[in-house]
Amino acid sequence: MNQVELHPWLPQSQLRAFDAAHGIRTEAWSPLARGRVLGTPLLDELAAKHRRTPAQIVLRWHVQLGNVVIPKASSAARIRENLDVFGFALDAEDLAAIATLETGERTGRDPDDD
Ligand SMILES: NC(=O)c1ccc[n+]([C@@H]2O[C@H](COP(=O)([O-])OP(=O)(O)OC[C@H]3O[C@@H](n4cnc5c(N)ncnc54)[C@H](OP(=O)(O)O)[C@@H]3O)[C@@H](O)[C@H]2O)c1
Repeated sequence: MNQVELHPWLPQSQLRAFDAAHGIRTEAWSPLARGRVLGTPLLDELAAKHRRTPAQIVLRWHVQLGNVVIPKASSAARIRENLDVFGFALDAEDLAAIATLETGERTGRDPDDD
């Protein structure tokens, strides 16, 4: 298991490919970018398209990428919402659109700076 910061701003494509090639599961640290990525208009659009919430769009994206994803939420309603991501699927166009959100922005420190 390799737990690294991972969300639409920081999809970690190269590292995920390395992990997959070496039998390592990738776990997303701060999978919702601590909630900060949720204000993104594109995620609102995809949420409307799929009749889901922006958080569910991001969590479904993680599932389809093969990530282990354990978001933090304070209410039972949000925890239920966050678990309910198996009844729909993002299509190739959605995944390509989410890929455009990559900025490299982190919510935590960069381990390469240690
Ligand atoms: N950040 C760290 O320092 C740290 C350290 C070690 C491990 N981790 C691991 O990373 C995971 C959690 O990371 P994280 O807490 O940094 O961030 P995160 O899961 O990316 O985001 C949590 C934030 O998203 C909000 N949120 C959750 N579900 C939502 C929903 N459905 N709609 C709207 N907002 C929603 C939460 O708000 P509410 O709380 O108000 O519901 C909270 O502010 C856990 O597995 C944790 O163990 C994090």
